[in-house]
Amino acid sequence: MSTAFEKLMNGVAGGLALLKVLSENSFDSVLITDASAEGKITYANKSFKKLTGHDPSEIIGKTPRILQGPGTDAKVIERLSDSLKSGRKFEGKAINYKKDGTPFIMYWRVLPIKVDKKITAWVAIQREGSVI
Ligand SMILES: Cc1cc2nc3c(=O)[nH]c(=O)nc-3n(C[C@H](O)[C@H](O)[C@H](O)COP(=O)(O)O)c2cc1C
Repeated sequence: MSTAFEKLMNGVAGGLALLKVLSENSFDSVLITDASAEGKITYANKSFKKLTGHDPSEIIGKTPRILQGPGTDAKVIERLSDSLKSGRKFEGKAINYKKDGTPFIMYWRVLPIKVDKKITAWVAIQREGSVI
């Protein structure tokens, strides 16, 4: 049984147009990496720029580690690393740093995109929080 979202996505062109509008206009930051061990950034939306100060065009090919710094909780990153290795989703919060060095609390989820059971990419949904 298809969900309402899957039904909407059935037409490929319509599905792509819909996904594009959703991502480009989301109030949350959307960051996508490839499936490699380093997780190279392949896409970031406008809200990512608003949140972090990084222009998407400058960070393609880098890794989301650019957001980390001395205050980033190593235990949270270890948990994320374990999730990536085992192909599981992650949710957490940690101190990250904007392009100008300002620290902030990042709340984020990372989810695998699977095609025929093989991970082809990782998608993160991110937002700023005020408490840790
Ligand atoms: C899609 C995706 C989004 C990520 N977003 C963040 C993030 O917003 N903040 C952060 O501190 N780490 C983020 N990471 C984690 C780092 O890229 C990296 O995987 C993590 O630091 C573990 O690797 P390391 O132990 O080599 O540092 C993200 C990873 C992926 C795959």
